[in-house]
This record gives sequence, C-alpha cells and structure tokens, in this order.
Amino acid sequence: IFSTPAEGAKWVAQQVALLMRAKADAGEHCVLGLATGSTPKLLYAELVRLHREEGLSFRHVIAFNLDEYYPIEKDALQSYNRFMKTQLFDKVDIDPSNCFIPDGEVPKEKIKEHCADYERMIALVGGIDLQILGIGVNGHIGFNEPGSSIHSKTRMVSLENSTRLANAYEFQGMSDVPRLALTMGISTILKAKKIILMGWGNTKAPVIQKAVEGDVTESVPASLLQTHDDATFVMDEQAASQLT
Ligand code: F6R
Repeated sequence: IFSTPAEGAKWVAQQVALLMRAKADAGEHCVLGLATGSTPKLLYAELVRLHREEGLSFRHVIAFNLDEYYPIEKDALQSYNRFMKTQLFDKVDIDPSNCFIPDGEVPKEKIKEHCADYERMIALVGGIDLQILGIGVNGHIGFNEPGSSIHSKTRMVSLENSTRLANAYEFQGMSDVPRLALTMGISTILKAKKIILMGWGNTKAPVIQKAVEGDVTESVPASLLQTHDDATFVMDEQAASQLT
C-alpha cells in the first residue's frame, strides 16, 4: 500500500525493470503480460523514463496484451493497440514484431483460431514471466467478467454494461463502446509466473476488499488470484481503504 498512485507505479516499474535486467543478464527473453486502461499509465510513463534516463532496454522483451475490443480498427483512437503504442511501445526500443495484442480486426470466422494461436504463442516463448493487471469495479481482470471460469482461455467475450459505462469516457458515449472483446482467459493469466495487480482510488476500494479478503469465487474474477502463489496487489491508500 502506497500513499499515492505515482509511488505505487514507481515501485511496480522497479519490479519490472529488475526482472528485465535479470533476464537480459541471463541472455533470456523477458515475457511481459500487459494491461491497458487508466491504471497502468503511470507505470508505462515510469518505464519510458527508465528507458530514456537510465538505459533500460526493451530489446529482449516480448509483450502480450490482455485484451482488445471487438470489433475495432487497430488505429482507432480507442483501440488498445493504439493505446500501447502511444503509452509505451513507440517510446522504447521494443521490437514491434515482439508486441502481441489480440486482433480486433480478425474476421469473425477466424476468431477461434486467432485465440488458440494467441495461447500457443505465449506457450511457445515459455509463458509469461510477469503479468500486469488492473481491476474492473466488478472484479474483472482482463475482460474476464464475473462468472468467467477459472479454466477459461483466450476467447471472445461480451462486456458487462458496467464495464462499457466505465470505459465510455474513451468513446463518444456508451452506445459507441463495443459490446464484445477478445481477452486472455483466467487460466492464461494464472499461468503467469508472477502477477502484479494495481488499483488506484476510492472506486476500486470495495472490489479490492472482496478480491483480497473475500471468498475465492468466479463471481469476483480477481479473487481467483488468491490461488496463485506469486500474486501481489499494489494499491494507493484510497484503494486499500476498505481492507480490514
Ligand atoms: C485492460 C484490462 C481491464 C482494466 C480494468 C480497469 O487491459 O485488462 O481489466 O484493467 O477495466 O480499468 P481502468 O484501469 O481504466 O480503471
């Protein structure tokens, strides 16, 4: 628990950088699972600073993003593809061919194949070393809404209206927010060797309390992280304010 989101994000950036440097020293790739939304913006800003000012290199990083709206054009203002480019990928020395994001333009009939390929590619590079997560006010991780199975894999999902409402600020209005998305599954996330979930602000306090102190249940997807042996929640004081 940190007093401000900026301090929390700085600590998370240090963990990411430590892992990246250890992997580089060992001559290995570093496989990062990345999130979008407002929560990781400070983390990406700090990683960009570490790259520019402290020589942190992303040349050996392979990145897999959690999710993408469907359908959405890659270059649309609200696409997570574009978000990652503007927040991180275009500002560091990562190889663009090592950046994977579920494809919001994939034809409908190819979605299953695309999702299976996504799982296969993660496995092919040895799995995710560190997965970064945010949390939805309904407890979702990635776009795994309440009720998602602990065994779920990368797939197409329907977004809850509460999620569409929470994300409407990125669009012209709620009716423009896609109803569908492609997301890594809960099992995809739980296979990561290390997980860090970030949550900032009062709006996340009730769900963080449930996820950390409540039952392990598919109706609060983030509570399933209690079954992982290296999962850390990083919060500011407001987000932690309902923990007992
Ligand atoms: C986005 C994602 C989502 C967000 C969550 C919180 O890639 O995986 O689970 O982390 O919706 O969104 P913000 O950070 O905008 O509050």
